[in-house]
Amino acid sequence: MDSYYRKEKNIKLKKFPEKRILITGAGSGFGRALALVFAEMGWQVAIAEINPERASQTAEMVKKAGGQPIEIPCDVTRPEDLEAAAKRIQEQWGGLDILVNNAGVAAAGLVENTPLETWEWILALNTKSIIYGCRAFIPMFKDQGGGYIVNMASAAGIASLPEMACYNVTKAAAISLTETLRTELIPFHIGVSVICPTFFKTNLMDQFTSPDAQQREMANAFFNKSRYTPEKIARHVVKSINRNRFYILTQHDARLAWRLKRFFPELYFKGIGFIYRTGLFKRFLGI
Ligand SMILES: NC(=O)c1ccc[n+]([C@@H]2O[C@H](COP(=O)([O-])OP(=O)(O)OC[C@H]3O[C@@H](n4cnc5c(N)ncnc54)[C@H](O)[C@@H]3O)[C@@H](O)[C@H]2O)c1
Repeated sequence: MDSYYRKEKNIKLKKFPEKRILITGAGSGFGRALALVFAEMGWQVAIAEINPERASQTAEMVKKAGGQPIEIPCDVTRPEDLEAAAKRIQEQWGGLDILVNNAGVAAAGLVENTPLETWEWILALNTKSIIYGCRAFIPMFKDQGGGYIVNMASAAGIASLPEMACYNVTKAAAISLTETLRTELIPFHIGVSVICPTFFKTNLMDQFTSPDAQQREMANAFFNKSRYTPEKIARHVVKSINRNRFYILTQHDARLAWRLKRFFPELYFKGIGFIYRTGLFKRFLGI
């Protein structure tokens, strides 16, 4: 991990002299990688995580990387856990500079076949959790005269690929929520960004669920094809926060989907429909 900061000498994040960040789901994948990038810049890092072993592992790594960790047991589907996290941060650090609503899960399925329990589960984890995080921390940011919120969405929230509606919906909601915050929070000097990555290798498939085994196979194949690591995505995100970027489209294919859908919506959906109908996705993935 010692390479992050050396590679990113330009990252100064001067606008946050107190260097305090809280990341939900920092026990693995992107959350952990981001924690380590900030640790190498000497930040205090609050790891808000449901899995205590993963949280402790990240905390050890943060210490080794030069940061000061605190572990906050937190289930992001429980608003009271995020309220408690905000209270603890206020007491222990006297405030916070960056909140990253990152924790999330993935699922797939046709709209009509996705069990209602899956819809409820993923909406709670990917969407309501961000609402709870914002509700808990925005008053603190307003009181202290500023702050920064980074919400984890996904390119799925833009691309709307077939057989992924339950995931797409939660991520589109995260984008919309962050867009609303962007204007609401301007008078309070609170910056916001929304991250929209395509696939990168993490433990996201651990909790993945789908009614059809082939959907799991496809998701696995997309992950295996990705050349992106969580570290690479995290470095991109830190640079983007430094530049106050609002939409953080971390990979080329995310930027392509964004532009195609924005400028040529009819062509975009016809193209996706054609690829889906003819099975080109599966051939591309070799399944
Ligand atoms: N990996 C990708 O390809 C990809 C692409 C786009 C967006 N994302 C998003 O990135 C975010 C992070 O995912 P990741 O890929 O690093 O996955 P990951 O599974 O490696 O990490 C997710 C972390 O969240 C924690 N978590 C799960 N449920 C929780 C809960 N209820 N409360 C608190 N923490 C909880 C897990 O224990 C884990 O440590 C997710 O929101 C995901 O949707 C990932």
